[in-house]
Amino acid sequence: MAILKIARMGHPVLASAAGPIGDPSAASIKRLVSHMIDTLNDAGGAGLAAPQVHEPLRLVIFHVPAEDEAAKRYKDAGLSKENGEIPLTVLINPGFEPIGEEMEEAFEGCLSIPGMTGLTPRFKRIRYRGLGLDGQIIERNAEGFHARVVQHELDHLDGTLFPFRIADLKHFGFMEEMKRHHAAGEIKEE
Ligand code: NI
Repeated sequence: MAILKIARMGHPVLASAAGPIGDPSAASIKRLVSHMIDTLNDAGGAGLAAPQVHEPLRLVIFHVPAEDEAAKRYKDAGLSKENGEIPLTVLINPGFEPIGEEMEEAFEGCLSIPGMTGLTPRFKRIRYRGLGLDGQIIERNAEGFHARVVQHELDHLDGTLFPFRIADLKHFGFMEEMKRHHAAGEIKEE
C-alpha cells in the first residue's frame, strides 16, 4: 500500500497538459494505478488523475458508488436517471465527446483544491473511451454525475481545474460556507 502526495492548485503539474502513455500494460503503469487507488481510497472522492499525484500522464481512475450522495442528489433533483454504481475504472489515454449540447450545473470539489466547491457547468451526456490496464478499449455512454466525474478527471489531463469552468465566481467558495448558505434546492440563478 502506498499513499501518494496529492498536488494542490498552484503546482505547475496541475496546470499543464499530460503526455500519452505508450504501453498501458507496462509494469510501471500498473504500479502507479495501484498507488493511485490506495491514494483515492485514503482521500475519498470519486476520482483521481495522474497529474494530481505529480505524474504528467494521461491516466485517470474513478468510480461512482451506488450510494453516492451527489449521484443520489442528482436523481432526486430529476437531473439524472442514474444513481447506479460504476465500479472503479482505469482509463488510459482517454477522450470524450458530448452527446447533444445540453449542459447542467452542480457543485464540484477536487482533492487538489481541498475545502472548496463551486457550481460548475458540464455536458449532461457524453460518450467516453480509453484503454484499460489490459490495453483493451473501454467505451461507455454516461450521463449526470457519472458524466460529470469523467469530464472533471479528463480536464485534469489538459491542465484545467473545475474553478476555470465556473460561470459565476459568486458560486465558488469554502465548502463549509457553501453548504450552509446554498442548501441543495436553494441554488438559484442570481
Ligand atoms: Ni479534481
